[in-house]
Amino acid sequence: MKADLVYEGKAKKVYQAEGRPGELVLSYKNDATAFNGKKKESFEGKGELNNSISTLIFQKLHKSGIETHFIEKLNDTEQLVVQTEIIPLEVVVRNIASGSIAKRLGIEEKTIFEKPIIEFYYKDDALGDPLINDEHALYVTTITEAEISEVKQKALQINHQLLELFQSIGITLVDFKLEFGRKACGDIVLADEISPDTCRLWDRATGEKLDKDVFRQGNGDLIEVYNEILQRLEAKA
Ligand code: TMP
Repeated sequence: MKADLVYEGKAKKVYQAEGRPGELVLSYKNDATAFNGKKKESFEGKGELNNSISTLIFQKLHKSGIETHFIEKLNDTEQLVVQTEIIPLEVVVRNIASGSIAKRLGIEEKTIFEKPIIEFYYKDDALGDPLINDEHALYVTTITEAEISEVKQKALQINHQLLELFQSIGITLVDFKLEFGRKACGDIVLADEISPDTCRLWDRATGEKLDKDVFRQGNGDLIEVYNEILQRLEAKA
C-alpha cells in the first residue's frame, strides 16, 4: 500500500498510497518527544496504540457529521487518509488550565474555563512553535479570515463531541491540539491525529494523568496509560 515517503514527523511517517492518487498512508512510530524534540524516547507498542485510539476518535467524529481526512485503518500501525496540505497551525482548545497557559498567564492549574479558550501556535520546529494571533496566522499561512472562523467553529464542535466521548469513559478532557488540512478542492478538514500524545486526559475518579504528560514529566508508564485509554474507548465502541 505504501509508495514514496512524503514526510517524516516526530511521531509519524507519511507515505503516498500506492495506486491511490490523492490518498496517503500515515504510519505511527513508537517515538515520543517533548520540549520541541529535546526529550526523546521510544516505547514499544506506542504506534499501535495511537493508531487504534486515533481511529476510534476519528470514526466517532465522522458519525457526528464532522468531516476529516480519515478513510480507514489499514493495519496495526497504519491508516489511510485523504491527502491534504497541512495548514501549519496547531489549534489548541482548552477547557481547564494546565501546561503552557498556566505557566504563561499565571493561571492556577485546574482552573475551569467557563468558555473554552482556543489558541493558535505556528507549527515551525526552528521557531519552537510560537503562540500567534489571528493576524499572524493570516500572514504566515495560507488561511483566510473566513477560514479562521470556520476552523474555530469546527474546533468547538470537536471539543463538544470529545468532551462527551471522554466523559462517558470516566475521563476529563482538559485540552487538546488539532491540525487542519486543505483538500485538493480547497475545503479545510480535520487532519493529523487525536491521541494521548495530543490531549490532556485526566481520570475523573482519581485525577490520574492518562496522556503524554507522564512522559513529559517522567512520572508514569506511557504504554500503561495509553492502553488504559484504548481499553476504555473499545469497551464503549
Ligand atoms: P501546552 O499546554 O503544552 O501548550 O499543550 C496544550 C495541548 O496541546 C496539550 O493537550 C498537548 C498538546 N500539544 C501537542 O499536541 N503538541 C505539541 O507540540 C504541544 C506543545 C502540545
